[in-house]
Amino acid sequence: MSDKRPGPGDYRESVVAAILEDPGFIRATFAGAGSTQQWKKLSIRPVTIRGDHHLQFVYFDGKKALTENHVIEPSRAKILEALSYGFANVHVQGSAGDLHVRITRKGRALAKHAKPSRPGEEPLLDHNLPKKYMLDVSRPDEFLAATGIMSADGRIKLTMQRKFHQVNEFLRVIEQVLPVLVDAAEGAAGSAGDSAAVCSEGATGTAQRPLRIVDCGSGTAHLTFAIYHYLHNVRGFAAEIIGIDTNPDVIESSRNLRDSLGWPQPQFANSRILDFDPKAPPDMVLSLHACDLATDEAIAKGILWRSRVILAAPCCQHELHRKLDAPGMRAVLRHGLLRERLADIVTDAIRALVLRIMGYRTHVIEFVSPDSTTKNLMIRAELGLALGDSVFVQEYRDLCGFLHIKPAIETMLGESFGKHLAR
Ligand SMILES: C[S@@+](CC[C@H](N)C(=O)[O-])C[C@H]1O[C@@H](n2cnc3c(N)ncnc32)[C@H](O)[C@@H]1O
Repeated sequence: MSDKRPGPGDYRESVVAAILEDPGFIRATFAGAGSTQQWKKLSIRPVTIRGDHHLQFVYFDGKKALTENHVIEPSRAKILEALSYGFANVHVQGSAGDLHVRITRKGRALAKHAKPSRPGEEPLLDHNLPKKYMLDVSRPDEFLAATGIMSADGRIKLTMQRKFHQVNEFLRVIEQVLPVLVDAAEGAAGSAGDSAAVCSEGATGTAQRPLRIVDCGSGTAHLTFAIYHYLHNVRGFAAEIIGIDTNPDVIESSRNLRDSLGWPQPQFANSRILDFDPKAPPDMVLSLHACDLATDEAIAKGILWRSRVILAAPCCQHELHRKLDAPGMRAVLRHGLLRERLADIVTDAIRALVLRIMGYRTHVIEFVSPDSTTKNLMIRAELGLALGDSVFVQEYRDLCGFLHIKPAIETMLGESFGKHLAR
């Protein structure tokens, strides 16, 4: 037990950290507000709503309670706001220890860390729902710890819950398309000499050669590592995965992380997606929140490589925002917000249509709940349609003609797409 007397700003950060960053957070109680204050008490606890981690804020005014549920980012602002409501006592309970803060009449904050008042009590975290996850989070995991997702004591960090949830749901889609990837690896198998032995303990997967995957705009590579971990260590497939990114810093840190894990994969390349070509054509190309045109680059390269599967979860989109121009749509386009939303929808519709023209069965799905991220749309495409279907080509001409646009993906694909439009 130790006494700390932080400055007035410091205790706020301590309270925020004890609630948001401690994976063992159980409950926080704010009390002791003066009679003139609206809220007499506030309690905060972790809850899981539709599979996503939230914090539940319950405000009492003496007669009734107001309940709000927030994901992590708004929660930070909400906690700081609550600390300005004149509460004299804040008690944060965690499974490893408690934090007591008392604010004197003169506004001085006295903070004290203490032994846990609820020893042995587990917070209601996704940690308690292992079946929901594609990766086992019921015990400490070297990979999840190394990528900063899990704390040393084996819990998913609160601040990483949303990213982990997105990666997890992406893995769920990969599990759905896995038979297609295995089929591709079987069909394209070379001599017996290049078949991949599948090696991990408890492994179940077999294929004639490693599954080949390109992750476009890999960034900090949580997804890249998670896919390799899932396919190789969990499902038992040999896999060759390469993450591509224009940022040399993330490439270097990803390589360092791989080396520190002692893994042979994933590989990483410091390149623009459009300029990159793998040694062998990939079975699956994916991008998770690659910025703006990087999503188009990923889709275009996936098409040009004739990748069997393309999964793209787009991020921000700016390309068509200024370009949209249709006299019949002026009532929509004059409002910046509506123009932006329409541009987002048109951009993804164009991407899906281009994929169809280029022979891909394509669906637009929500891969994760909108509570986790508003960028929750995924374009899921599998090779298997006839090339250049005239119905889709006409739809493309109609849409681009109506909105007076020439999407960048058309240029990225060049003649292989242009020849279908020219017919
Ligand atoms: C928002 S981050 C997403 C990272 C990762 N996929 C994730 O979901 O955590 C987008 C990444 O795409 C990279 N990027 C943007 N444009 C690119 C391009 N044309 N070629 C390669 N990488 C690109 C950026 O450097 C950045 O690391």
